[in-house]
Amino acid sequence: MEKNNLKDGLLNSDQLEKYADDLAKIYTSEKEKTKELEAANQQLVKFADDLNRTFSELKSAHKELQQSYIDTVHRLVLASEYKDEDTGDHIVRMSRYSELLAEKRGLPVNEVQDILYAAPMHDIGKIGIPDSILMKPGKLTDAEFEIMKTHTTIGAKILADSKAEILQLAQRVAVTHHEKWNGQGYPHGLSEDKIPLVGRIVSIADVFDALTSKRPYKDPFPVEVAVDIIEKEQGEHFDPEVVAIFLENIDTIVEIKSEVALV
Ligand SMILES: [Fe+2]
Repeated sequence: MEKNNLKDGLLNSDQLEKYADDLAKIYTSEKEKTKELEAANQQLVKFADDLNRTFSELKSAHKELQQSYIDTVHRLVLASEYKDEDTGDHIVRMSRYSELLAEKRGLPVNEVQDILYAAPMHDIGKIGIPDSILMKPGKLTDAEFEIMKTHTTIGAKILADSKAEILQLAQRVAVTHHEKWNGQGYPHGLSEDKIPLVGRIVSIADVFDALTSKRPYKDPFPVEVAVDIIEKEQGEHFDPEVVAIFLENIDTIVEIKSEVALV
């Protein structure tokens, strides 16, 4: 009897044979399972390879798309600059000053990058200003200046309703880069932190470059004079915190200025 045999610790030959058979079956089925697992594993490796390839293809397509997007924006900016006294260098310099100030203000890397691409569009609304005003060599009359101010709102209209984050940011830049910390700016007379930070940053970058650049009606101011003017406007025209960052990083700003001048 089996019960008795187990109890006694003894197995007869039939039982031994049956156990051996069972063990062999288990072994064979484990081997099959291992094979199946190996096959599944290979399949997974292949999927991972395919995914990797698709991912890098997507990445390069994305990069190409981003490049053509930046290129398009650049050409749009050039079109708006065509009649203006601002040169392409002004756009490059003020964008890089804006990028530096944003970075030193502690903004996340992606926002810093977006500011670099959005800042060039700050004056895009000038495309809608009549040549007689935009290219007037002398001082603008009050009425002409009122028209000139609308380059901010025209720019905002050109850039409105985009799904692209950079264009949304560019719209904020266009409409706020002439606002002043003390509320005396235009077009909306916003003050302090009601002005988006990007507008407060671009405003300093734009004014510093305008001061230190040659224009048909003026020679460039020396850097020290321009810095002095910015410092005096701390808390008036400009956000005091961004002015402090500007002053702390003036050496890098001067470096950027000389780099772009050499291009
Ligand atoms: Fe402007």
